[in-house]
Formats: sequence, C-alpha cells, structure tokens
Amino acid sequence: MEKYIGMLPPMGWNSWNTFTWEISDGLIRQAADAMVSEGLRDAGYEYIVTDDCWSEKQRDSSGRLVPDKRKFPDGIKAVADYVHSKGLKFGIYSCAGTHTCAGHPGSFEHEFTDAETFAQWGVDYLKYDYCYKPDGIPGDVLYRRMSAALRGSGRDILFSACNWGADNVYEWIKGAGAHMFRSTGDIQDSWASIKRIALSQTDKQCFGGPFCHNDMDMLVVGMYGGSNNEFINAATDDQFANREGKGIGGCTDTEYRTHFALWAIMGSPLMIGCDIRKMSPATKEILTNRDVISINQDIECRGPYRISQWNNPENLFALVKPLHDGSFGIGLFNLGDRTGEMSLQFWDLGISSAAGRGLELYDCYSHEKAGVFSERFAANIPPHDSMMLKAKVVRL
Ligand code: GLA
Repeated sequence: MEKYIGMLPPMGWNSWNTFTWEISDGLIRQAADAMVSEGLRDAGYEYIVTDDCWSEKQRDSSGRLVPDKRKFPDGIKAVADYVHSKGLKFGIYSCAGTHTCAGHPGSFEHEFTDAETFAQWGVDYLKYDYCYKPDGIPGDVLYRRMSAALRGSGRDILFSACNWGADNVYEWIKGAGAHMFRSTGDIQDSWASIKRIALSQTDKQCFGGPFCHNDMDMLVVGMYGGSNNEFINAATDDQFANREGKGIGGCTDTEYRTHFALWAIMGSPLMIGCDIRKMSPATKEILTNRDVISINQDIECRGPYRISQWNNPENLFALVKPLHDGSFGIGLFNLGDRTGEMSLQFWDLGISSAAGRGLELYDCYSHEKAGVFSERFAANIPPHDSMMLKAKVVRL
C-alpha cells in the first residue's frame, strides 16, 4: 500500500534538543550520514529536521527568508539535496508568529511566500511554532493559513504544528490540516519531565489518529544531559541533577526505554533529539527496537486505553492499543519510585476465560514469546521501568 505523508506517526531526528542554535550545513549532513550508518533509516526513521536558528535575522528585499550565511553558506537547497541523496526527507522550522521563539523572522503574513520558498528548496516537513503570535489573531486561522499555503505549494510537505497544547488545539488542529500537533510544553532531559508529559496525555488519546498525531515532543533518549540547551537541561526537580559525569539532567537507560515505550504506544511521532553521531549501544537498541516501533506504526493509529492498577492508579498502569491484525500492543508502566506489581486482568480488555480465550504474549524487549496466559498476566515492574508486549487472542 502506498504510504501517504503523515498517515503514520512521523519518525526522524530534530536538531533542537541537543544543538539549538549551533546548527550548520555540516551538522545536518552528518546527521543524515549517521541516520543511515547507524541503522536508523532501516528502522523507519525518515526525516532530518533543522529546527530554529537556521535563518538570518532579516528577510531579503523581496521579503524572502535568507539562510544564515555562516551556518549554511551554500543555502538550504544544497543540504536538502544531500539529505535526499541518502534516501531521507528534509524538514525545516518556522513560526506562526512574527518571530520564531529564538527571535528569527516568523512566517506571519508571509505564509504563502515562505511555503513557496520551502517547496523550491525541496523541504518535505515544516515544524510550525507559536511564539510571538499577534494576540488578536486566533491560532486556528494561522495554522489553517500555513496549511493552505503548503498544500498549494506544489510539493508534499508534512505539516507539524507546535503550539504546545495551547488554545484548545485538540478541538481544531485536525480541521486546520496539520499532520501532527505538539500537545505539551518543551520536554526536558529528566525523568520528571517525561513522567509529567506522559501523564498529561493518557486521557487525550482520543484526539490523535491517522494523518493527525499527538506530538508529545522530541525524544530525549540517549541525551544523558549532553546538550547546550539550557532549557532542556533545566533540572530543578530532577533527582539526577548534577550527578557526576552526566552534566545537568539526563536519565538512566531504563528511564529512556520507558520514555520510548510511552511515546511509541501513545502514537506520538518518534523524533530523536540526541546526537545520533555518538549513540551508546543502549541508546541504539532502544531507538531501533522494531517490535516497539511496529506498535507505534500500526496502520490504524488507535490511541491506547489506560487500565490503572487499583492499588497504585497514578503510577502503575497498562496502556492497551488495538492493532490492525486483531492483536494488541500492551505497555505495562511503573512511573513510581518503588517496585510495583502490575496485574493486567484480561477481563478489562474484553477477554474472558469463561469464553475459553486467553492471550499469547510476546515480550518486545527480549524479543521472545512469554507464553499463553489465561485471566491475567502479573509482573513486578521495577521503578521507572516498563514492559512492552504484543498479545494475540488464543483459544485456551
Ligand atoms: C519552542 C519549541 C521547541 C523549539 C524551540 C525553538 O520552544 O517548542 O521545540 O522548536 O521553540 O526556538
């Protein structure tokens, strides 16, 4: 089947989390190289996205955006061409307001010109932010405008809205034409931030779906505190703040694995934010876990439902996502600070042993069959850890 743009949660890499304003032609090319050599492209990652700070501070005399001459001396098209030559797609960033969040020109009142420029440069993906939005103009109108401009540009350009969940975005973003929409403030490279974002979206799963995905922000998997981004490193409530050798912020590999599992099963786009030129073996294993990715990329894009553990409902829960072939993706999560027993009662999935049915489980972390179970599956989950399962309904 042909894959339409934005039908499934987009997968790729974005420059912001690790590099912020320190981006360049060379960095973007190296990211594209790493995407291929590290096996990320083969695992499904597709977009290389250049975030904020790629342009000069002023438009040119004809009102067009100008690539920063020092960072991108050969312009953006040359970089996009290189990314395409690697079998990847190229993304760029602009803003619905007068300026981007870092103070570069925004696309407000320049939407059609900018969309045309991006199309000429070979852009395949636009992340569209919300800073410096004129107060009197409704956000939905601005996203509709850029959507119309992109759709009329003559090129297929995926539209990634980034208004951080503001102004009831859930209610209008699908109609505005975006393929994905940020639903939260910026992620930080800390367990507290991962947990906060995940818990804020478990009751919002009905809003995402094919062609319009709930974007819980870029992944921090594999950053280990290694960023020049002061915001992402803000670690006020992070238990790992200032720990030796890790800089500020950063998570354990267990926490990164749980983060990836949450984003995957909740249908978020999977946009990597670490330095993919220098991934640890654990980072690579987490990001290229094909079983977990396949749950994220299921063609029906159904949001999971949540089943909370009765005696620790806030921190211990399962997310159950019906998949197109009749099986389920199931995540068991312990976001609490103590080991907890999560018991998944099959009755809550509609599977009754009285009807002679049980579940055959497959462990997406060990890539092994876990066996056939009737009535329930229980496991002790260490703090901040998770299990990802695929489940098939079977006759007992
Ligand atoms: C906002 C966005 C971030 C990033 C920065 C760039 O904060 O939410 O993802 O794009 O702007 O300035």
